Amino acid sequence: MNQAVILAGGHGKRMKAEIPKPMLKIIDVPMLGWVIRACEAAGTERICVITGYKAEFVEYYLNGKYTTALQSEQLGTGHAVMQAEKFLREDTDGNTLVLCGDAPFMDAETISSALELHVAQKNSVTVIAAEIDCPKGYGRIIRSETDGIAAIVEEKDATPSQKKIREVNSGAYWFRTADLLELLQKITPQNAQGEYYLTDTIKLAIESGRRAGVYLTDNQEVILGANTRQDLLMLRETARRNILNKHMDRGVDFLSTDGVVIGIDVEIEAGTFIMPGTIIRGNTKIGRRCEIGPNTLIENTVIGEGCRLNTVQAYDSVIEDNVKIGPFVHIRPNSHIKSGVKIGDFVEIKNSVIGEQSSIAHLTYVGDSDVGKKVNFGCGTVTVNYDGVSKQRCEIGDSCFIGCNTNLIAPVKLGTGVYTAAGSTITKDVPDYALAVERGQLKVKDGYSLRKLKNRLFSGDNKEKKN
Ligand code: UD1
Ligand code: CA
Repeated sequence: MNQAVILAGGHGKRMKAEIPKPMLKIIDVPMLGWVIRACEAAGTERICVITGYKAEFVEYYLNGKYTTALQSEQLGTGHAVMQAEKFLREDTDGNTLVLCGDAPFMDAETISSALELHVAQKNSVTVIAAEIDCPKGYGRIIRSETDGIAAIVEEKDATPSQKKIREVNSGAYWFRTADLLELLQKITPQNAQGEYYLTDTIKLAIESGRRAGVYLTDNQEVILGANTRQDLLMLRETARRNILNKHMDRGVDFLSTDGVVIGIDVEIEAGTFIMPGTIIRGNTKIGRRCEIGPNTLIENTVIGEGCRLNTVQAYDSVIEDNVKIGPFVHIRPNSHIKSGVKIGDFVEIKNSVIGEQSSIAHLTYVGDSDVGKKVNFGCGTVTVNYDGVSKQRCEIGDSCFIGCNTNLIAPVKLGTGVYTAAGSTITKDVPDYALAVERGQLKVKDGYSLRKLKNRLFSGDNKEKKN
């Protein structure tokens, strides 16, 4: 069986990270997630992730889906793979892919092609390598006289002439599993960093009469790793550009890509137009002919066709067809906005259903509510859903007309076609087609301000002068 070991135990010292380096995100998925996806796409049947520094973050992310092995002290990449011994011994017949959790762009195509070469050449170990312009920081491939591989030398152990070599180790390898187990035993930490280098397996394989090979890829991106924050930003830029290009190839239109970041799993249909400052991430799907942005953030939300979202934040929700939202609107989780709804400025919706063609044009909060069709919310309506202890729901029937500044004190139900008078606080259910008015009596005092003015002008002590 073919299996994979992914190294995610390192501290990432050069990154000064608070979390394990492979947990740092490229767009909306941690680097480790990119690597796992590549392994799975290449068809590896079992995966073991090596954890170490702040292992609990990796465990939480993996959520029990993969085997893990803890490397309690980070003594190098060879030592990291040794921690997978039990996992490796469970199936020693096939080949084992070793990948670094900090090189997110290794892809299924490269992994599969490298395996073909590994099997065809009957190698004990095949390293995936590339030639790059700036090899600093990578292990260099040392060629043998017959142009095979002789060894890998780390930057810190390299002589000045070795440092000039531009052919570098990606950190990804195929091993014959049984040979890997033997070679791991032979690694010693005799090097500049005092670490157990996995890269020593090349030299050790050759010394013991086994075959070692190189799969040289011309896709330089697959080897890119992140050791510093600068590297990380560069990887993010590369990923961002690649994802945008993929959407453009599929017919998505961009006014400009400034500040536009689209997540790895986002799906957008052709003809949709995206404006600057827009972040779309998680499990988001957007239909045809939408206009999104500027300055919009959409997460885990399904949006239909012909919608317009301008300066909106939307999370974990469903927005059907031909909905117009914005500017300055917050759609919070668990909202379902049905077709033809209009939502205008400074409106917040939370955990609510808004029925077809309803309109919530300004300065309104709708939380924990079930709103029918063709409801009109006046400016400043508030669903008062929280009494300090628990949350309650409001039910608003079809074709209701909610007057400006209405407070709906939940739990409360308005039937079909109910009107509420502006400024009313509704504390009781209102039957179909009724008008609910709740107001103090209006008192009008004639001539009030004129009397005040006269008092000021003709009273003995004129305060305005004194001041
Ligand atoms: C490693 C390779 C180098 C290669 C480069 C590619 C070695 C000795 N060097 O160097 O030849 O060009 O990757 O990116 O293998 N890790 C652990 N436990 C440890 C140490 C590291 O799990 O004790 C993990 C890290 O989390 C990381 C990966 O192994 O995901 C690589 O470690 P890192 O320290 O970044 O190795 P490099 O110096 O980049
Ligand atoms: Ca690295």
